[in-house]
Amino acid sequence: MALITGGGRGIGLSIASRLASEGCKVVINDRDADVARRAADEIRRSGGTAGDVGGSVTDPTDSEAMVGAAGELFGGLDIVVNNAGLTADDWLHRMPDETWDLVVDVCLTGTFNVCRSAARLLRKDPREIRYHRKVVNIASIQGIYGAPANVNYSAAKAGVIGVTKSLAREWAGQKINVNAVAPGYIKGTRLSGPRDDAGRLGIAPEMITKIEEQIPIGRPGFPEDVAAAVAFLSSSESDYVTGQVLEMHGGLEFVQLV
Ligand SMILES: NC(=O)c1ccc[n+]([C@@H]2O[C@H](COP(=O)([O-])OP(=O)(O)OC[C@H]3O[C@@H](n4cnc5c(N)ncnc54)[C@H](O)[C@@H]3O)[C@@H](O)[C@H]2O)c1
Repeated sequence: MALITGGGRGIGLSIASRLASEGCKVVINDRDADVARRAADEIRRSGGTAGDVGGSVTDPTDSEAMVGAAGELFGGLDIVVNNAGLTADDWLHRMPDETWDLVVDVCLTGTFNVCRSAARLLRKDPREIRYHRKVVNIASIQGIYGAPANVNYSAAKAGVIGVTKSLAREWAGQKINVNAVAPGYIKGTRLSGPRDDAGRLGIAPEMITKIEEQIPIGRPGFPEDVAAAVAFLSSSESDYVTGQVLEMHGGLEFVQLV
């Protein structure tokens, strides 16, 4: 049983589809409840088992409800993928408080909220621990290497890596593995598509071709690449891996967004 936050589209939906294709029951959360419902429908049409729950990871009450939904629908929770995230790029000298708060709240505080809520289902009496449970946090290369006009997102994702490393140590005795995936440029997503009208999500349109031309491995990453990494970190194949950050960027560690 897996909970994927922000799983209604993009990388999150790809992760949910991959886990479901391997027989995992998935609960898809999204802030947009309709998007979550459509995603769960899509997985069920493909033969998977999926439920959905709306709500924002920034709200501790909602994060309790999404963990509760996993317990109620499928009787427990083994895997949590903290995927919900967004960007709102601006230069530091003119970044409004709300822009800083928005990104830190969703990416970092959201990860904290959901991990804290999930603790009651993931943590067990040591006598009842029969297999490892998994937390996979979706960070970003910007949390490691930084990027201009990006201090809010870079700081939040660096924070996600901090949560990952500390929680891995805190929950190791419980056989709960906590790891992160740090993707670079992932094509076919809103965050790596052209910047939206509100100037929040996305990359400056003129940068997109330049980024793709620079990727040493010769192709962009896709949501399925991230899903494959999450599938490994959610499986028993990775029981001896914890507190790690798997960078996925085809060799392009720094992405110029503006
Ligand atoms: N796309 C990339 O190139 C890229 C690169 C590195 C890291 N990432 C990370 O991957 C994750 C997914 O990104 P994506 O490109 O698929 O984005 P996306 O915008 O396509 O999907 C993110 C989903 O999260 C949901 N969401 C946003 N705020 C939420 C909240 N408060 N509570 C619950 N759901 C919320 C959105 O409604 C959306 O459906 C994010 O954490 C992002 O930072 C993406």
